[in-house]
Amino acid sequence: SESENIRTDLITLTRFIIEEQQRLAPDASGELSLLLNSLQYAFKFIAHTIRRAELINLIGLYGQTNSTGDDQKKLDVIGDEIFINAMKGSGNVKVLVSEEQEDLIIFESNSGNYAVCCDPIDGSSNLDAGVSVGTIFGVYKLLPNSNGTIKDVLRSGNEMVAAGYTMYGASAHLMLTTGHGVNGFTLDTHLGEFILTNPNLKIKDNKFIYSINEGNSFYWSNEINDYINSLKKPCIENNNKPYSARYIGSMVADVHRTLLYGGIFGYPGDSKSKTGKLRILYECFPMALLLEQAGGMAVNDNGDRILDLIPEKIHQRSGIWLGTKSEIEKLLTFIKK
Ligand code: AHG
Ligand code: MN
Ligand code: MN
Ligand code: MN
Repeated sequence: SESENIRTDLITLTRFIIEEQQRLAPDASGELSLLLNSLQYAFKFIAHTIRRAELINLIGLYGQTNSTGDDQKKLDVIGDEIFINAMKGSGNVKVLVSEEQEDLIIFESNSGNYAVCCDPIDGSSNLDAGVSVGTIFGVYKLLPNSNGTIKDVLRSGNEMVAAGYTMYGASAHLMLTTGHGVNGFTLDTHLGEFILTNPNLKIKDNKFIYSINEGNSFYWSNEINDYINSLKKPCIENNNKPYSARYIGSMVADVHRTLLYGGIFGYPGDSKSKTGKLRILYECFPMALLLEQAGGMAVNDNGDRILDLIPEKIHQRSGIWLGTKSEIEKLLTFIKK
């Protein structure tokens, strides 16, 4: 009958957060749950703004560069302002690191116990071409007795208590971990709710996709060139076919595909940029935490675990490889010093 086709018991992100808190931390203050709700508000607002961008002339350059040398798009700046206001308004974020802000932001008036690191719009160079972009975030609980300083964020990725991204594609997809696996949600714009669509997501073991900007291959180390070239040969495990190359150029989109289809994504350091391009606090750590929680791996160019790194500057970069465990292990046979 008709009612068999309509799902009437939806698990919204709000319900999921409350149930997870009751299941995993019954005596918790509920502050992280409130913070996650403020984050989802920011994602809904940014999704709405991006959808309208072309209609209200919000694409194109803002006309300044940010502290990591990127040319800022108008949406980089708008997304950043939306995010800053949402975190300030949450009341429980004390410290904010944003790709678009040179320095740490301390919300003096907030009494919160959390620090958030974010990339408001990831993949912004793709924006004007309508390619998927996203917002990446990582959350630290402030150090004991801290009132909010840079020490709260210059810490290993192992200390992040939550991380994830929202990709603004055909739908808005939120991938979230609080250290107990990965759960995926899809925004229902009519309800204005993120609905649980990928419960307890685990990365596929079938890989045979590699995702990297080959335009940098002239600058790669010999080991990396040897590894990538090894994927271009027909291989027995893949019915004597070579790997497929898939590169979107928005980290969020390339990681989302890697989580759902398997494979490996890499943005290694090279002779022109030793520490690669991706920033540790708001690109490498959140994605590494998601991949590990989904049963995958994430390492740097020496084969060290990304989450074990300790950044010395808030915009510090690292080479990164992430994806299916067996694929990373194969890479390690080429790069492990
Ligand atoms: P952002 O737009 O936040 O500055 O990040 C862009 C990053 C990342 O999204 C992507 O993986 C990488 O830039 C692509 O760089 P290339 O264009 O050099 O491949
Ligand atoms: Mn940028
Ligand atoms: Mn980015
Ligand atoms: Mn960005």
